[in-house]
Amino acid sequence: MGTDSPSPFLQACRRAPTPFTPVWLMRQAGRYMPEYRAIRARRGFLELCKDPEAAAEVTLQPVDRLGVDAAILFADILLVLEPLGVGLEFTRGDGPHIHRPVRSAEDVERLRPVAVDEAVPFVFETVRLVRKALSDRVPLIGFAGAPFTLASYLVEGGPSREFLRTKRLMRDEPGAWRALMTLLSDITADYVNGQVAAGAQAVQLFDSWVGTLSPADYRDGVLPYSRRVIQRLTPGVPIIHFGTGTAGLLHLMKAAGGDVIGLDWRVEIGPTWERLGHDVAVQGNLDPAVLLAGLGEIRRAVKEILDAVDGRPGHIFNLGHGVHKDTPVDHVIALVDMVHELSAR
Ligand code: CP3
Repeated sequence: MGTDSPSPFLQACRRAPTPFTPVWLMRQAGRYMPEYRAIRARRGFLELCKDPEAAAEVTLQPVDRLGVDAAILFADILLVLEPLGVGLEFTRGDGPHIHRPVRSAEDVERLRPVAVDEAVPFVFETVRLVRKALSDRVPLIGFAGAPFTLASYLVEGGPSREFLRTKRLMRDEPGAWRALMTLLSDITADYVNGQVAAGAQAVQLFDSWVGTLSPADYRDGVLPYSRRVIQRLTPGVPIIHFGTGTAGLLHLMKAAGGDVIGLDWRVEIGPTWERLGHDVAVQGNLDPAVLLAGLGEIRRAVKEILDAVDGRPGHIFNLGHGVHKDTPVDHVIALVDMVHELSAR
């Protein structure tokens, strides 16, 4: 990268022309990589996140191995919830668990603001170590959970299919919902701004589960808070606004803000981008399941996306969601090569 040749990834965020379509992946580092599993075998996930040297090493693993155009910080959206005292645990196999979920107005009242510099200094230290090690080879993406997705973990106590408790709180206790979402907006903005101050060059806001909502619920109960986060972020740093199952919400997500809107595989990228407007960049949108198929199938699916986008500046190639843990690493390497080869101009 450097001043002479700006990074294709950052150029694409700004909808500037690039020599090829830049690609990075969600869950770029993770259990599909043997070198990650080797580090993870010896310690818990939270412990790994809290060790900046090790977290920096894991962040860098896929950069050389895969040839991606951006690094994504190794951390988690839920790390900022731990200081709330809700009892965060990652259990092997079934993901995050919140031991004292937040389900009533009284539960919300007990929550106190989080001073991120004291609560998650290890995340910011990881950012500094990664930037030093990358020395501008590719930019570093920081990230946080958007308020709704964070709230859904706090209220449900873990992963959920239907988010019934979260939706009930939103409807039956509007005051508590506003207080919770305001608190989470402020924590998120501070968390992201701390990463930017430490050296993150772009940020992704993960609203992974927002696709469960009706457009009206998103507009009234979520959009104002996602907008509040985005408006408080350090100016000049590109923001990727991501969710899944969001076909009916994309225009509202764009209204909430972001330079790049994440698209999952449930939409056709060409017409969806056109409807959304070409004044915003897009990221996506390969089905992660395609990477478990043969290389011929992967190539066909990559070509379909690139053909639909037709070289328009402002497309960042990504999966519609994270790399599945059973994905062969060779397929991920081949994917990155294919995107570069088939999009070279
Ligand atoms: O490479 C990257 O993408 C950066 C690191 C990253 C992780 N989590 C590491 C991780 C990122 C960007 C996240 C974001 C995240 N965390 C999201 C939003 C993205 C998405 O997938 O929708 C969510 C919802 C979480 C919460 C979370 N953390 C869950 C649901 C899980 C369990 C899921 C699973 O795959 O087991 C985690 C744990 C987690 N976060 C792992 C990793 C690599 C697996 C940890 C392990 O067991 O080693």
